[in-house]
Amino acid sequence: MGIVNNLILALAYLSVVRAAPFSTKRAETFNFNDQTVRGVNLGGWFVLEPWITPSLFERWADGGGVVDEYTLTAALGKQTAQNVLTQHWASFITEPDFQEIASYGLNHVRIPIGYWALEPNPADPYVQGQLPFLDNAIRWARNAGLRVMLDLHGAPGSQNGFDNSGKAGSINWQSGNNVPNTLTAIQNLANRYRGDNDVVTSIELLNEPANWGNNMGLVKKFYYDGWGNVRTTSQTTAVVIHDAFLDPQTYWNGFMDVASGVYEVILDTHIYQIFSREEVAMKPCAHVQAACGAAPRLGGTDKWTIVGEWTGAQTDCARWLNGLGKGARYDGTLPSASSGYYGSCQKKFTGTVNDMLQVDKINLEYFVEAQLDAYEARTGWIFWTWKTETAPEWHFQNLTRAGLIPQPLTSRKHPGQCQTSQCLIPGN
Ligand SMILES: *[C@@H]1O[C@H](CO)[C@@H](O)[C@H](O)[C@H]1NC(C)=O
Repeated sequence: MGIVNNLILALAYLSVVRAAPFSTKRAETFNFNDQTVRGVNLGGWFVLEPWITPSLFERWADGGGVVDEYTLTAALGKQTAQNVLTQHWASFITEPDFQEIASYGLNHVRIPIGYWALEPNPADPYVQGQLPFLDNAIRWARNAGLRVMLDLHGAPGSQNGFDNSGKAGSINWQSGNNVPNTLTAIQNLANRYRGDNDVVTSIELLNEPANWGNNMGLVKKFYYDGWGNVRTTSQTTAVVIHDAFLDPQTYWNGFMDVASGVYEVILDTHIYQIFSREEVAMKPCAHVQAACGAAPRLGGTDKWTIVGEWTGAQTDCARWLNGLGKGARYDGTLPSASSGYYGSCQKKFTGTVNDMLQVDKINLEYFVEAQLDAYEARTGWIFWTWKTETAPEWHFQNLTRAGLIPQPLTSRKHPGQCQTSQCLIPGN
């Protein structure tokens, strides 16, 4: 044992010495040029979403105004919120999750975190204590050979008004001191993990800032300022900027490109085909075609580009996906979009992967493989999300265990979907 270990150490030392003359200033442990990002999000862990962990919100299923982490912690009060959330952080994701993630050939986890963990505002109801668990996550990732993308998912004032920013409702991120406080949160995050560059390959400055309700000029300035903050701790950590739901090529090409003088920038685009009536109306083959259509859009960007969120779901049926207490466009139960009915949400509303309808399993298999084909055309992909309590089509772990997501990730039961305009799904 000792001899073997010494031999490995000696070989590792030799390879370092030999490699040195060829190394550049980049010493990253993940090369976004040559390696494909394959990852899962750890959604619902440090930033709660009612639809991912409905058990935490069940008391308010019939009303009471609790719809997100902000209103949940306000309703519980600091002490109870601290107890409930600490229990959640300690149990929802544990080290065996990291080992299982690695065992599937994934190389990245993207971990959402809210500003309130990093730069708390005493006036908020939010509670703290996430960071020791995030420290664990990075250690577990290291043990499993995984890499981490840290993702600021909620900014003060809310950058998008979504419940997944911590606070649903209005968009007030660019008022008052919110943007400077967001930059401080990023700086604190970068400082805390400055010694973990072997694992933390990347920091996302802000998840999904809305292009409506925000001034895009100020979003862009924030991206430059945030890039500078990360660079005070590391020259090699990639800085991830979200596309604000604007086209990765026609809107973002030319911004923060190599000519602009910044480096190690990744553009993050999220691809869902479920948040409009037109999209939930699409048949399985149309979803596949739309997925394949992403490949040229991703391929033509002038910077690394990942699909940092995507799903197996072809409908918005998952219970509370559109907000606690809200229904779905798909079956006409979402009040503001209720004029359509495209099908039943049976087995898609809540349930398990094993209990999904056979037809839904088959459609999901084709859809996931087409998305893998398309999103690997560029820098790679990160699925949303690793696990949920009751939303089967979003549950990477169970979908993989059930054989509906391919293993290895490069194998295909239904190859060539993006090489033909024909529909390969039987009966469609
Ligand atoms: C996932 O699998 C676990 C273990 O079999 C099961 O307890 C859980 O209900 C499943 N959840 C979903 C959404 O499939």
